Amino acid sequence: MPQHVCPPWVGYLLASPLRKLIQNPTAILKTYVQEGMTALDIGSAMGFFTLPLARLVGPKGKVFAVDMQEKMLTVLDRRACKAGLGGRIETRLCTQESLGIRDLSGHVNFVLLFAVVHEMPDALQLFAELASVLKPGGVLLLAEPTGHVKASAFEVTVKAAQAAGLTIATQLIIPRSHAVLLHKPPTNP
Ligand SMILES: C[S@@+](CC[C@H](N)C(=O)[O-])C[C@H]1O[C@@H](n2cnc3c(N)ncnc32)[C@H](O)[C@@H]1O
Repeated sequence: MPQHVCPPWVGYLLASPLRKLIQNPTAILKTYVQEGMTALDIGSAMGFFTLPLARLVGPKGKVFAVDMQEKMLTVLDRRACKAGLGGRIETRLCTQESLGIRDLSGHVNFVLLFAVVHEMPDALQLFAELASVLKPGGVLLLAEPTGHVKASAFEVTVKAAQAAGLTIATQLIIPRSHAVLLHKPPTNP
């Protein structure tokens, strides 16, 4: 595994309830996620955002949690079952080369990329994959940690998203993060 990918012990820290004091997942997500939506949490780790996402999409919605580390997803599955959310969360083990989400093409309403793009080898390929699974009008929330990622590097990441056809809806204010909301333009009638 490449050195810069966060190890499972950090996954436990990231899933800590104490983190909610700084980054409240429901407060961050609730404006963009409605009942019945299909959502994707890329680089979900142990599900700090996945479980609140599953509550927001409700029983008729679905959340796909994608990560390249099996341990992260094993713990996430366990946490989801304990919270009674197992039925609306599907975990998917991916590779660094592909997210393995082609079957979701055109079906996704909301994508979360929180503190993960700086660990990925190819942002252009990532956003191309995500643009193809988003529905027209679908939304992508991109956030990167200010502690690890310079503003100039974040700008490069946003440009990669734009190169895939996503457009900036608004800049976001999230503690300790560079953050932006992007969307896939609706198709013309
Ligand atoms: C810093 S953690 C962030 C976790 C989560 N988004 C959060 O904010 O709590 C990054 C996660 O992305 C995953 N990851 C790194 N590279 C990845 C890739 N190429 N594809 C999928 N997941 C990846 C890591 O395994 C790790 O679980």
